[in-house]
Amino acid sequence: MTSEAFAPAKINLALHVTGQRGDGYHLLDSIVMFADVGDRLWFSSAKDMAISVTGPFADGVPVDRRNLVWQASELAGFCGTIRLEKNLPHGAGIGGGSSDAAAVLRHCGYAGDGAALGADVPVCKAAKAQRMQGIGEVLTPLSGWPALHAVLVNPGVEIATPDVFKALIQKDNPEISADPMDFSTAEEVVAFLQDQRNDLEAPAQSVAPVITSVLTALKALPQCRLARMSGSGATCFALMDTAQDAASAAQTIAAAQPEWWVRPCVLS
Ligand code: C5P
Repeated sequence: MTSEAFAPAKINLALHVTGQRGDGYHLLDSIVMFADVGDRLWFSSAKDMAISVTGPFADGVPVDRRNLVWQASELAGFCGTIRLEKNLPHGAGIGGGSSDAAAVLRHCGYAGDGAALGADVPVCKAAKAQRMQGIGEVLTPLSGWPALHAVLVNPGVEIATPDVFKALIQKDNPEISADPMDFSTAEEVVAFLQDQRNDLEAPAQSVAPVITSVLTALKALPQCRLARMSGSGATCFALMDTAQDAASAAQTIAAAQPEWWVRPCVLS
């Protein structure tokens, strides 16, 4: 019997780097939401483990133990065939492999947080709006938060997260400046987010200057309420008031930059 799971894109609406641990990992204070666009996985039990990858971003995805899906299966005690439909660009700052691994853990009813697989796996396992602290393992659900309309844009450059952290100069920035639990309307959330940052945006722009062009294009949209990079890039997002605004903004960007990956979505 085959069953299915969804691995949503993870979006960091704010990402403050507040320090660095002795082992090199960075301390973060981040607001994370999840898109209604993502990868899909189909599971069927079998004697041997096997992964096949399809979809627009299948190229270059390993089908052996290097794939986090394989490692998550071992951790959760699943053995069988997994078909992974890669709809999300990789090395893109939107979760990718972490969200796929988290989908396996959720699907198998795994009780732990999966942090051993990667710093972003616990938040991806929660798959709902969260404040994320520590190196990614300290989570506070933002259960009163409204859904937000957005456009996601990736210019087609893969970025290695460690390269961006290496390019980061200031490693002890202030934490998030207000209690994000206090907000319940989209207007309040957007106003709060405008006062926050992604501390990896400047170092990522030095690694991949095209990110500056993406942010400029998003900020120029009349529907844009806030434009920022997610994670270590290169995907950026713009927040919009309505689904209609997101759809027409996505059309504008896609027409001007046919090579870019552009998706209107809802974040929750
Ligand atoms: O844990 P994960 O393998 O996803 O992290 C990839 C890399 O990103 C780490 O090797 C580290 O260089 C960097 N990282 C970090 N601090 C974090 C998360 C990731 O320095 N909190």
